[in-house]
Amino acid sequence: MDPSTRAARAPGQPDPTMRGLVAPIYPSTTYERGREGDYPGGHSYSRDQNPTVEPAEELLAALEEGTEALLFSSGMAAATALLDALDPGTHVIAPARMYWTLRRWFEREVERGRLAGLTLVDGPEEERWAAAFAEHDHTGPTLAWLETPSNPMGDVIDLIEVAELAHEAGALVAADNTTATPVHTRPLEFGADVVFHSATKQLNGHGDVLAGALVCSDELAGTELWARVRHERAYRGAVLGPFEAWLLLRGMRTLFVRVARSSATAFEVAAALAEHPSVAEVRYPGLPSHPGHDIAARQMHDGFGMLVSFRPTGGEEAARRALGRLTLFTDATSLGSTESLVEHRARIEGEGTPVPADLLRLSIGLEHADDLIGDLRQALD
Ligand SMILES: Cc1ncc(COP(=O)(O)O)c(C=O)c1O
Repeated sequence: MDPSTRAARAPGQPDPTMRGLVAPIYPSTTYERGREGDYPGGHSYSRDQNPTVEPAEELLAALEEGTEALLFSSGMAAATALLDALDPGTHVIAPARMYWTLRRWFEREVERGRLAGLTLVDGPEEERWAAAFAEHDHTGPTLAWLETPSNPMGDVIDLIEVAELAHEAGALVAADNTTATPVHTRPLEFGADVVFHSATKQLNGHGDVLAGALVCSDELAGTELWARVRHERAYRGAVLGPFEAWLLLRGMRTLFVRVARSSATAFEVAAALAEHPSVAEVRYPGLPSHPGHDIAARQMHDGFGMLVSFRPTGGEEAARRALGRLTLFTDATSLGSTESLVEHRARIEGEGTPVPADLLRLSIGLEHADDLIGDLRQALD
């Protein structure tokens, strides 16, 4: 069955009690025990697992072609649970240009001595990753954290090549697939051991749920590490509430049409910006001029995502001026909702950010391409 069919029909069978086609919500935090101390309904307490969360996890695991998915209360909760499940003294190898809050968290954990070290790879090119792994002489556990296309620079990492290098170096490979979504890329196919999502973004797609996810490969599923990730979630109580899980499942039922539309629009927007005389650079993996385009074309199918970043000519001042003139794009953080957003990332990330001061990030929503391009043109003219 095509994944889009699976998503559209989720959860796939009517609920056994009322034969409803839409999954029910189970708000109960606790479940009655049987006389033998067993749990006839298969659930005990919602900090361990909730029946409303399960169909959303099953759908996401199927979309990523993974074995099991775990949902968390946010993307950061999911990422930090994975890191905390790894043995103390883990070394992380990650892109220098990646989702900023997670990079800051890696840095903080090194300062606190909870990570043995952090190697930041200064660019997406395979040679840079190869050099990082070659120099890496850590004997403890290593995590390679990949993000492609990256937020907000749109860097593209060759998943097959870098996962192979990472495995040769004995590292576990996690791939942040937030901006590609499983509609465009399934990193487990290319060798990742675990896929990460900020499900807050396009998986939910309506800007009304904060959620995160980890999806494991078949090899990882039965391991002690994966069991620890699950325990980490329960110990911290970093679970997704049943109402949020229900909204997320509803959002994922329309994932394929939303992603197809916003990616097609993003391509049109990127192409229009590339032709605009007041634009110095457009960073969109779908454009043949993007340095990672060939790799993106190999590992992404049916589009290149909804994230478009660009740098107006005239530097930071010009970027701020264009930002102030946009009327349809809303100046707000986050991405992957129905309405298009713009953000001046360097200002938000602050000191130490590798993002150029004149870069504006666009999250393309579901509006008509002509309206979005019209807004950008009037802001830049
Ligand atoms: C690429 C990426 N990874 C991780 C996160 C963190 O997810 P959350 O905000 O759901 O905690 C974000 C949030 O913006 C993101 O864009």
